[in-house]
Amino acid sequence: MSNTYFVTGALGCIGAWVVKHLVERGDVPYVFDLDADPRRIRDLLDEQTFARVHFVEGDITDQTAVTKAVDKAQPKAIVHLAGLQVPFCKKDPALGAKVNVLGTVHLFEAQKAVRVPRLVYASSAAVFGPGEDGAAAPDENSLCEPTTHYGVYKRANEGTARIYWQDDQLPSVGLRPLTVYGVGRDQGLTSGPTTAMKAAVLGRKHTIGFTGSTDFHYVADTAAAFVHCADAAPKGGDGARIYNLHGDTVAVADIVATIERLHPAAKGLLTAAGNALPIPPQLDGAAIAHDYPSLPHTSLDAGIGETLRRFGELHAEGRLDTRDLPT
Ligand SMILES: NC(=O)c1ccc[n+]([C@@H]2O[C@H](COP(=O)([O-])OP(=O)(O)OC[C@H]3O[C@@H](n4cnc5c(N)ncnc54)[C@H](O)[C@@H]3O)[C@@H](O)[C@H]2O)c1
Repeated sequence: MSNTYFVTGALGCIGAWVVKHLVERGDVPYVFDLDADPRRIRDLLDEQTFARVHFVEGDITDQTAVTKAVDKAQPKAIVHLAGLQVPFCKKDPALGAKVNVLGTVHLFEAQKAVRVPRLVYASSAAVFGPGEDGAAAPDENSLCEPTTHYGVYKRANEGTARIYWQDDQLPSVGLRPLTVYGVGRDQGLTSGPTTAMKAAVLGRKHTIGFTGSTDFHYVADTAAAFVHCADAAPKGGDGARIYNLHGDTVAVADIVATIERLHPAAKGLLTAAGNALPIPPQLDGAAIAHDYPSLPHTSLDAGIGETLRRFGELHAEGRLDTRDLPT
């Protein structure tokens, strides 16, 4: 049985942590990304483990390139994370659709052609609209009324997965994270809290661009969820499964307070302004907790503490990437 995993978008934040998870347990990640700069992976791995990662530069909008690379890797599973986030889809909806929707079809076609046992892909909490104030956290049966192009594209991918199961019996799992945080999170609508952690370490002021509460998910836990779902069928068996991810639902103001408590030098430097996110503040995560009972859950204190610590190390080594901090 292959111990290779084909990971698209693995030069991004969640992908870098999926790669770390895989190499540290002795598996072989095959990175497929449009970008050629492995800086987020380098921020997480030492030289020895980094040397065990395979890199393929490629574009998921190119079916031939995708299928060829999957065929060469002969993976145990595909973890499909490549995509354009909310602001990029808003700026260029046609490109957003091409990458996020057509690109996902290409991964399913490659799964079919190469007969890969399972495909796990990143959907998003953005498939939901903001919902009514005080409404219960949505579960997987709740109505999806996305209010962004991005959310519409992610919902389309869930439909694509359903049809590939119906017509071709291709097993898949779609995961819906909300606000992922941790080292490497430096772009997208909900990256502000992580950028604030970086600003704290640097002693710089920073304003997080949204307020209200949101569901925080530590990136190591997010990556572990993708890998668990790539490794085994859920309880109840294969299908086109979709799961919400739920972490800790906390007000952005409380995240600022936690950063200040863990890193007192940041007191008074961090604020939050703007509207609440156009997504429910909390997702019901009961289904995945039932179907994959051994997923890790890192506390906010531990996740934020670890992120501050690693940012501090990278800063001391002179290689902390600060491009997400406004000058
Ligand atoms: N980070 C979050 O909070 C969050 C929440 C919900 C869903 N998601 C989804 O999870 C996935 C990963 O998120 P992330 O935070 O790691 O994103 P990211 O923006 O950090 O990384 C995305 C990666 O995709 C690559 N990519 C973009 N277009 C490509 C193309 N045409 N071909 C190949 N690679 C391409 C980029 O180069 C980048 O390395 C995305 O699909 C995202 O929409 C993320």
